[in-house]
Amino acid sequence: MNKSSYYFIPDVLTSEEIKEIQEHYKDYVCDHYSVISDKWNKESEKMTRMEAPNRYLDLIGIPENKFPSLTEKIKKSFQKIIKQRVSLEGPHYYCHYHTGDFHGVHRDNYATHFSRDLAIIIHLSDPTEYEGGELIVNNEITPRQKGAAIIFDASQLHELTKVTKGDRYIISECAN
Ligand SMILES: [Fe+2]
Repeated sequence: MNKSSYYFIPDVLTSEEIKEIQEHYKDYVCDHYSVISDKWNKESEKMTRMEAPNRYLDLIGIPENKFPSLTEKIKKSFQKIIKQRVSLEGPHYYCHYHTGDFHGVHRDNYATHFSRDLAIIIHLSDPTEYEGGELIVNNEITPRQKGAAIIFDASQLHELTKVTKGDRYIISECAN
């Protein structure tokens, strides 16, 4: 990775593409509940409310190519960094952090059965739509810009501070 702990890639998704994704998921309700971070059915297309000790949010797996331009742009973003074909971890994740939601300090490759090399998040929300909810990677606060991506080495310590006002929406995905 470079000197900074993360890469910032602006304009990965257009406003129209974000609108399409948001419109699709806006009427989904949480009909699943999980208290364990990595034990939820990523393929079910049910919105899951996660209330694990270190992590509160709603999330749902987006199957690859459900939104073809999204998949293509995620792959291209990773390829900008590692200059080769990447294999994605699985579905993309649509994540909704309500006021009060957060993800405490962690690494993504914390267990031998579960290893991630690079993580990406793409901002779907405009920074004016929420307060708090800072993605901090290796003690650096990362920029917030609608449509932009942040990519980082997932073995670094990172966290999402508590959203103190409004709602924060992102797409996340990992590559190996
Ligand atoms: Fe993470």
